[in-house]
Amino acid sequence: MRRARIAIAATLLVLALAAVAYAQLPSGIARPDNEQNLSTQELGAQLYAGNCASCHGIAGRGVAVPGATRGAGNIKGQGPSLVGVGAQAAHLYLTTGFMPLSNPHEQPWRSRVLFNRRELASLIQYVASLGKGPPIPHPRPETGDVSEGMHLFTSHCAGCHQVAAEGGYVTDARVPLIKEDTPTQIAEAVRVGPYLMPKFSKKYISDRQLNSIIAYLQATKQPRDIGGWGIGHIGPVPEGMVTWFIAAVALIALCVLIGERLRGTV
Ligand code: HEC
Ligand code: HEC
Repeated sequence: MRRARIAIAATLLVLALAAVAYAQLPSGIARPDNEQNLSTQELGAQLYAGNCASCHGIAGRGVAVPGATRGAGNIKGQGPSLVGVGAQAAHLYLTTGFMPLSNPHEQPWRSRVLFNRRELASLIQYVASLGKGPPIPHPRPETGDVSEGMHLFTSHCAGCHQVAAEGGYVTDARVPLIKEDTPTQIAEAVRVGPYLMPKFSKKYISDRQLNSIIAYLQATKQPRDIGGWGIGHIGPVPEGMVTWFIAAVALIALCVLIGERLRGTV
């Protein structure tokens, strides 16, 4: 009886601890203790100092490593200067969970966002205050044209992202899916050119054309498989697999059957 009670008490304690751990703010980043009492500006500066300055330097001037050669992503040193990148790049890199990186040689990749809304807004404001730079864009995909968007996406983006935006590989980089990106993040990525992606100026792709590209990307989120099974919409490789593993097996089976039948008649 006593044992059972101890077992129940121990289970309850473990559950209580798990609940406390779950209720805590996401860990993995340094945050000031008195967060609630800080102004947006102070909070941004402190979060920056604790989570970003080791790579991006004091006041966002970057951290150069003397004699370092440029690695993947054309990065020299720990992290690039953030002076003048503006709210646009900060919003993209923070709301996608690209930053903070754990290692400067890693490719930024979409992951869980560790900052809460107020922290994100404070950090974005702080990065924007480091120098004059582009603001967060406000695309309007509802004014875009899906078929024009498809043409533009095919000619400018599909070489890397694949025509249904399912991602892939280019030399030295993985190319992500564009499924989870919001219209704002897509507009930012096109202008910022994260990692090895080129940046497209307004001269090259106007804001109006960008709205069409975003409209097309939103349409690819619900592809209509008029021709039949979409096989994940990732193009020729799975289509080839279907030929090999289904059609080839069916053909061989057919040959064997015909062979059996012929043997029976001769
Ligand atoms: C030279 C290859 C290349 C071209 C061309 C290119 N991209 Fe990219 N794109 C990339 C790579 C590589 C990344 C990953 C960047 C990173 O890791 O931070 C990326 C990232 C993105 C992202 C962020 C996705 C995410 O959630 O991580 C979006 C959105 C995007 N591209 C849209 C576009 C659009 C729209 C175009 C055309 C106007 C385009 N890209 C052209 C290579 C390319
Ligand atoms: C371990 C080092 C490291 C840490 C920590 C880090 N970064 Fe970065 N950051 C990088 C590197 C390397 C790049 C360049 C990657 C690229 O080109 O996409 C980068 C790129 C960026 C960019 C895009 C700059 C541009 O030119 O468009 C922004 C914005 C940014 N980081 C913000 C932050 C913020 C805010 C934090 C803190 C929350 C942070 N980073 C933490 C290494 C780091």
